[in-house]
Amino acid sequence: MQPRTTARIAFIGAGNHATESLYPNIPMIPEFELVAVCDIDPPKAQRTARRYGAQAFTDVETMLDQVELDGCCVCGPAEMHHAVSLQVLRRGLRLFVEKPPAPNLRQAEELVESAAQHNTWGMVGFMKRFAPANVLAREFMDSPAFGTLSSLTLIHGCGPYDDLRRMMYFNAIHLIDLGRFLGGEVERVFAYQCNGGRSNYGLAATWMLRSGVAATLNQNSGQTWSDCSEAVYLTGAQVGIFIDASREVKITYDGAQFAPGAGLQLFGFRAEHSVSGNMAGWAAGGHYQRGYWGELSRFARACLGLEAPSPDLHDALQNIRLIEAMLESAATGREVKLPL
Ligand SMILES: NC(=O)c1ccc[n+]([C@@H]2O[C@H](COP(=O)([O-])OP(=O)(O)OC[C@H]3O[C@@H](n4cnc5c(N)ncnc54)[C@H](O)[C@@H]3O)[C@@H](O)[C@H]2O)c1
Repeated sequence: MQPRTTARIAFIGAGNHATESLYPNIPMIPEFELVAVCDIDPPKAQRTARRYGAQAFTDVETMLDQVELDGCCVCGPAEMHHAVSLQVLRRGLRLFVEKPPAPNLRQAEELVESAAQHNTWGMVGFMKRFAPANVLAREFMDSPAFGTLSSLTLIHGCGPYDDLRRMMYFNAIHLIDLGRFLGGEVERVFAYQCNGGRSNYGLAATWMLRSGVAATLNQNSGQTWSDCSEAVYLTGAQVGIFIDASREVKITYDGAQFAPGAGLQLFGFRAEHSVSGNMAGWAAGGHYQRGYWGELSRFARACLGLEAPSPDLHDALQNIRLIEAMLESAATGREVKLPL
């Protein structure tokens, strides 16, 4: 029998983010066969299914009963991610779920447990791991020229949030995941929080990484949603790496500037090319470089067993543990250790 070259995948949710930033990538992923679209809003389900040549559904269970699938993507209001992800995992299907997969630690643990129980896995939409500038930085860090990590600084400013915890679960979780992607696991944290009036929150934290490196994080909601700012700076052994908005990376080492060109053709896009835009997504122009194509490509290929499913539900759980540790530290004024 010929090995299969496409994975049969359904997509639950046809709202703003999925429509603007996720679905448009699918036709450019050879291994991704979109066979069904489900949204409780019938016009959205029908419009999206028609556009991408898939079958439309308005009920998740009906779709899962009727369509033979390898995997299923979930992108709805964050409040429904946990419940719908369990519906997918309990059928033994591979899952791709947008962040945050759950609104608290217990439910994030439940997703990890359910995946193991049903002998399957779930990837989570931490797209910064697939943004070419971050991939390039990570590749350079793995080269002998970098040495070992000696410092890491992470900054992100977004538009207003009415609640600090919500800002951390909905927005900071991307930066936190990027921090773990670049710096590895965190052993303990110390954090302060502040409120600059109304919806302008700030959280500043120091992380002690398991590698013994000290890292700092500044997440705030004092900027505007029309564009956000992100900066990552890290050092190795006489090497500096500055990543602007997951879009451009500048590597300074041994008198030379910029990395050699090997990573410049990642995922079919040039590193300096702006694929995606501001928070509105694919169509909007602006500041960010995203990794939506990369994450969906990885999911389809992982469904076929061609690549490992990563980042996964364990990463999401670890990111949520970090959020809870920082919130606890900020509330108590004490250092908080993360579980091993
Ligand atoms: N990774 C990123 O860069 C990024 C950016 C923006 C949003 N997001 C995430 O994307 C998700 C969606 O955000 P949005 O702004 O597109 O929301 P949205 O409200 O526009 O879309 C959600 C869609 O889900 C549908 N839906 C709700 N419950 C359903 C169910 N049980 N079954 C099927 N369909 C259901 C709704 O009808 C709606 O069409 C959020 O979780 C958000 O955190 C991620």
